[in-house]
Amino acid sequence: MPFLSDTLARVKPSSTIAMTNKAAELKAQGRDIIGLSAGEPDFDTPANIAEAGRRAIAEGKTRYTAVDGIPELKRAICTKFKRDNDLDYAPSEVSVGTGGKQVLYNALMATLNPGDEVIIPAPYWVSYPDMVLLAGGTPVTVACGIETGYKLTSESLEAAITPNTKWLLFNSPSNPTGAGYSHDELKALTDVLLRHDHVWVMTDDMYEHLAFGDFRFTTPAQVEPGLKDRTLTVNGVSKAYAMTGWRIGYAAGPEPLIRAMAKLQSQSTSNPCSVSQWAAVEALNGPQDFIAPNNAVFQRRRDLVVAGLNAAPGVTCPVPDGAFYVYPDISGCIGKTSAGGTVIADDEAFATALLEEEGVAVVFGAAFGLSPNFRVSYATSDAALEEACARIRRFCEGLR
Ligand SMILES: Cc1ncc(COP(=O)(O)O)c(C=O)c1O
Repeated sequence: MPFLSDTLARVKPSSTIAMTNKAAELKAQGRDIIGLSAGEPDFDTPANIAEAGRRAIAEGKTRYTAVDGIPELKRAICTKFKRDNDLDYAPSEVSVGTGGKQVLYNALMATLNPGDEVIIPAPYWVSYPDMVLLAGGTPVTVACGIETGYKLTSESLEAAITPNTKWLLFNSPSNPTGAGYSHDELKALTDVLLRHDHVWVMTDDMYEHLAFGDFRFTTPAQVEPGLKDRTLTVNGVSKAYAMTGWRIGYAAGPEPLIRAMAKLQSQSTSNPCSVSQWAAVEALNGPQDFIAPNNAVFQRRRDLVVAGLNAAPGVTCPVPDGAFYVYPDISGCIGKTSAGGTVIADDEAFATALLEEEGVAVVFGAAFGLSPNFRVSYATSDAALEEACARIRRFCEGLR
């Protein structure tokens, strides 16, 4: 009898975490490594939010709380949905978990039965298919190439829906591409979903506040109120408020689903960290004025990286709408041999050779379900990004 479960055998560890660990290992050995693989802002948590956490400790708010969030945080989340998205939710329609990741996982665990399908546009956030598999469902990935801006179209959504489809799970602005769906693009998708009333939509709005230029963020329940009663809107404080380590994510949706998610959480982790919940109250209720200057920094870095990568032979890098990632296509590099003698058979070979020969850590596209590409996280200093782009250019110029 095997000791480890069959469920575990169906999934793989996160490639982004694996790449980040590998880069850290090489760095510890004294190598000069530029890490572009981690998906977190390089800013500190704003001072007022950190102070709210310290205050919570000083005031003894250090005990168990309600399983899926303190009432103060649920109210702050309802206010946020009204303010930012014009969505009316009651606290009983809100669930708070240990990061957006747990909230997504809870929702899938609470709803999927064997045979249930979840449509996931690719490239996707690395965890989606594995979470679906852990929950006993079947991920149905739909390739969304550079020609559609890495976005799902109404035609490909329609074609992917079967009687077994339970969810469409998608993310805008996207990790790993930075692509954001406009109001009209979302409307085209919600129009399809309106015709299939057995399909729910789980929208991962984690990068809502990281939106650049003319791009205006919007979310399915806002675009199509007729879908609200089968939409789970997932969000969190990790990215917008530089709070990745605090581990607070949340979702709003129909009450029976929210209750089911809380039931699951009550038998796994119980409440998210009490101190972090108080910090998240301050994040959502407090001043939002640092978001715009942070975005200006990210937009500048985006432009720097897009220009730097497009100057590398064989690399085509579209301009993303948001988040802090770019996802260049490297079709022009495949089949060549690097200066260090590695045959670039696929994007994994590209990323491995780039790390070994030039000390730049990126994540290969296969991890996100669309190749040949790689993902750069540009949440790091301009100097590091300039140096990394120069190294990537040299690496590509060395390909024969
Ligand atoms: C698209 C997407 N969704 C969800 C998450 C999870 O966020 P959290 O750190 O709040 O669990 C991430 C984090 O990288 C992400 O990129």
